[in-house]
Amino acid sequence: MNNGAALFLGLLFAMACSWFAFVGAPQWQFGQEIPYTDEATGKVFPVDRGGAAKRGHDVYRQNGCFECHTQQVRQQSYRFSLVVDEWGTNVQQTLREFPEVSLVVSNEEVALPPVPYLLFDDLTLREAKDYQRRRTESGTQLRRVNHPVGPDIARWGARRTVGLDYLLDRPVMLGDRRFGPDLSNIGNRQPDPRLLLLQLYQPRLRNEDSVMPSYPFLFESLEATEENEAEALRHQGEFVKDGRGRLIAPKPEAHDLAAYLLSLRLDEPVFEAPGLGIEASDPESEATEEQSD
Ligand code: HEC
Repeated sequence: MNNGAALFLGLLFAMACSWFAFVGAPQWQFGQEIPYTDEATGKVFPVDRGGAAKRGHDVYRQNGCFECHTQQVRQQSYRFSLVVDEWGTNVQQTLREFPEVSLVVSNEEVALPPVPYLLFDDLTLREAKDYQRRRTESGTQLRRVNHPVGPDIARWGARRTVGLDYLLDRPVMLGDRRFGPDLSNIGNRQPDPRLLLLQLYQPRLRNEDSVMPSYPFLFESLEATEENEAEALRHQGEFVKDGRGRLIAPKPEAHDLAAYLLSLRLDEPVFEAPGLGIEASDPESEATEEQSD
C-alpha cells in the first residue's frame, strides 16, 4: 500500500467533517445557552421544575412514556394578520383606502370602530406587506401579527419548541415515535390533574379504544371509608373501584408524574418562537420570511 498516508488523512478529514457537523456545530449553536431573562418583566425562562414535577420527570423516564409520546412541536410556516392601532384623522380617506372596514353606528353617529381593530386575518407575508404599504395618506397605523401554523401547532402547541425549552432537563426526552399525542403542552391542554391521573390508572375509562397501557402500580387500593374518599379517583361522578370494591388512590409517584405533566407548557413566548398572536417585532425581520403561499 503506497498511499497509506493519503488514505489515512482522507479518512481523518471525512471523520473530522462529520464530527464538526454533528457535534461541533450544534455545540457552537446551543452549547452556550443560558436561561433567558426578559428585561422588561425580569422573568426568567426556563425555570427549573420544582420538587414534585422534578421527581415526576424521573417517573416519566422509568415508565418509558417517551416510547410513545414526543415532546417536540414543529412549525410549518407563519400566517399574518393586520391590526389597526390608530385610524388617523381623515375618516373619509381611511374609508377610501380600506373599504373593508365596517363602520359602527351609535346614537345616529357613524364612526370608525374602536382600536385595536383586527382588519385582516390569515394573510401571507407578501399580502400583509402590500397592505402595510398601502396605508398612506390616511395615517392609519397597521401592525403585523405573526401566527405560527402547521399540523403540530394546530393539534398541540401554542408555539414550536426550541432548544431553550429543554435546557434544564436531564435527560431530555424528545421521543421519536408518536403512538400517542405530543405532550410538550399537555399542562395547558389538560390542566385538570384528576383527569391526568385517571388517564394513568386506566386510559380506557375515558377512551374505549385507547392503546395506551394502564399503570395500576402507581396507585393503591384503599378501604371504602369516608376519609379515603377525598383521595380516591372518580370517573363521571362515580368512584373508580377495583375488583373487590375498594377505592383507588394515587401513590406519591402518580402525583409526581401528574405534576410533571402539568409543568409541560408552551405558553411562554421565546425570542426564536414568539408564539400565537405575538406581534412581529420588526416589519422587515428576516425570521418571518419563511412563509408558504
Ligand atoms: C404504548 C404507547 C404508550 C405509552 C407507553 C404511553 N402512552 Fe400515553 N397515550 C398513548 C396513546 C395512543 C394515547 C391517545 C389515546 C388516549 O387518549 O388514551 C395516549 C394518551 C395520553 C395522554 C392524554 C393526551 C391528550 O392529549 O389528552 C396522556 C396525558 C398520556 N398519554 C400520558 C402518558 C404517560 C405519562 C405515560 C407514561 C407513564 C404514557 N402516556 C405512556 C400511548 C402511550
